[in-house]
Amino acid sequence: MMLGAQHGHGEASGKIILLGEHAVVYGVTAIAVGIERGAEASARFTDGPASALGLRVESDLVSAPPPLEVSSAGDDPVARAYRALLEAALPGGALSGGRALRVDAVTRLSPGGGLGCSAALGVAIARAVLDLTAGAPFAEDDVAAAARAWERVFHGNPSGIDTATAAHGGALAFSRAAGAKPLVLGCDLLVCVGWSGRSSSTKEMVDALARRRERDVPGFDRSLAAIGTLVDNARLAIEAGDTAALGKLMDLNQMLLAGWMLSTEELESLCRIAREVGALGAKLTGAGGGGSAIALVPSGDVARGVLEAWRAAGFGGFSTRVRARAA
Ligand code: PMV
Repeated sequence: MMLGAQHGHGEASGKIILLGEHAVVYGVTAIAVGIERGAEASARFTDGPASALGLRVESDLVSAPPPLEVSSAGDDPVARAYRALLEAALPGGALSGGRALRVDAVTRLSPGGGLGCSAALGVAIARAVLDLTAGAPFAEDDVAAAARAWERVFHGNPSGIDTATAAHGGALAFSRAAGAKPLVLGCDLLVCVGWSGRSSSTKEMVDALARRRERDVPGFDRSLAAIGTLVDNARLAIEAGDTAALGKLMDLNQMLLAGWMLSTEELESLCRIAREVGALGAKLTGAGGGGSAIALVPSGDVARGVLEAWRAAGFGGFSTRVRARAA
């Protein structure tokens, strides 16, 4: 194996799904955008039989869990995910000469927050490992494969939208069949992200929806088709810079997600409060059942108003701008 630098470095963005979460698992296109908050990782060689990973969360929205230390020989989910990532990233899954890796990663995303925390960590760690061991430039396909191996341990049946957005950033239309297609934004999008105060497990929510589908496949398929239509229209609205239309489409998507029992009282409150103070549209983002809601806002003033109103109701949040740029 060719050895590159003595320290590897990797970064990745968190994401919000503007429309189409869950439906994307069943083949519908979803629209996601990378956000400024994400994850960072560094990797170096150490001696030893097993590789180590240190994980830290630095969040202003949740009280940070204690830093996590895992060994690639361990059996907890993070250790298994790390091992799967290393096996995918390194030929034969091992380093030559009895060497091992030490990776340190930090994220500003809350785990279970619906903002793609685990995917951002997976992509940042994969980049750091490949930066160290393969020498730059490494293939982005290898990063994606290693991050997907990590995600599969947590999610079981991930659509791939989280890892694609963490890797690409920007705005993407993503489907299982076509992969990630960059979108050209007609104007900047200003979005407030509100934390429901409750983390949720994507795997559990995806599994719960699969069970719900079994009970009424035709009804489920009608909602799926309706979300597909909303996404097609949202894509046009985004490209045309029509934020008023995009907001309405987000509201309609929220109704369908609530019909799938993915919303909660807190997520409904976040959406209602945001609309009352001038948001163009609001919905849950990601897996639901907790996690975060997003509100599309027309101006910095409305963004401040939404964040203030959320705070007054006991919800933390932040705003993020998705910049229009050429694909
Ligand atoms: O993991 P989250 O909460 O960011 O959401 C993932 C999006 C889902 O559509 C719910 C699952 C998937 O794999 O696409």
